[in-house]
Amino acid sequence: GRVAVLAGGHSAERPVSLKSGAAVLNALQELGLDAHGFDPAEQDVQGLAQFDRVFIALHGRGGEDGVIQGVLEYLKVPYTGSGVMASALAMDKVRTKLLWRALGLPTPEFAVAGEDIGRLPFPLMVKPAREGSSIGMCKVDDAAGLAAAIEAAQSFDTDVLVETWMSGAEFTVGILGDQVLPSIRLETPNSFYDYDAKYRLETTRYHCPSGLPAQQEQALQALALRAFQVVGCQGWGRVDVMQDADGNFQLLEVNTAPGMTDHSLVPMAAKAVGLGFAELVGEILLTASC
Ligand code: DAL
Ligand code: MG
Repeated sequence: GRVAVLAGGHSAERPVSLKSGAAVLNALQELGLDAHGFDPAEQDVQGLAQFDRVFIALHGRGGEDGVIQGVLEYLKVPYTGSGVMASALAMDKVRTKLLWRALGLPTPEFAVAGEDIGRLPFPLMVKPAREGSSIGMCKVDDAAGLAAAIEAAQSFDTDVLVETWMSGAEFTVGILGDQVLPSIRLETPNSFYDYDAKYRLETTRYHCPSGLPAQQEQALQALALRAFQVVGCQGWGRVDVMQDADGNFQLLEVNTAPGMTDHSLVPMAAKAVGLGFAELVGEILLTASC
């Protein structure tokens, strides 16, 4: 049947989504499927009723936060990735962390801007609660820079997360159906893995396999899967993790519609287990439900 690839949308991650969407559309056509691009910022979403399945390659609010998922539920069109509740929860880093903390899963100490953040030691990461691709994020080394960082983040979201900086290595773990993909370790010369390090620079280094001893890799994969499951996520996704100064894994966030660009991480991890890009896209499409 007809497949729609949703990409674009109104969020700040629109340019990233357009790249993800173009790559996914190309892959589905290579697989011989009757696939069509669909941009909800330019087309009436009622038109989605004409499709048999939807691949969601939207990132950020409106596309990754349960809104379009709700439309698709209403239209009874199966779609890839998490449902309404998990998409909404995962989009919100503060509420995701509250859940993880309540269940005893490790996540960096944090506060919400406007609350008492005085107890958190520097450096701090300041993040809009519901943004992606590091947009609006800033690492702050001392009190002098904090107010400006919070103000910058507030231009993207009313809710701003202030989180203890993790000084250890950064990892990401892709999840595809029941399979946890091998972790990737990220190394950037920038102060953190920011938008440029993600999409523009050729200086970011990706290690897959990550170089962790087997037992630690297993522990990281198990933590990522549990973090994904307790949020209620389905189908596929990617969990971002950092190590603290003692080497303990600390959960940062879960992405329910991860990037599928040529710089993106789930395709890289899939390749490490012998799954090419088009095969990966086909596997994700098979998980579509509603
Ligand atoms: N938010 C970007 C697309 C990612 O997580 O890959
Ligand atoms: Mg994200």
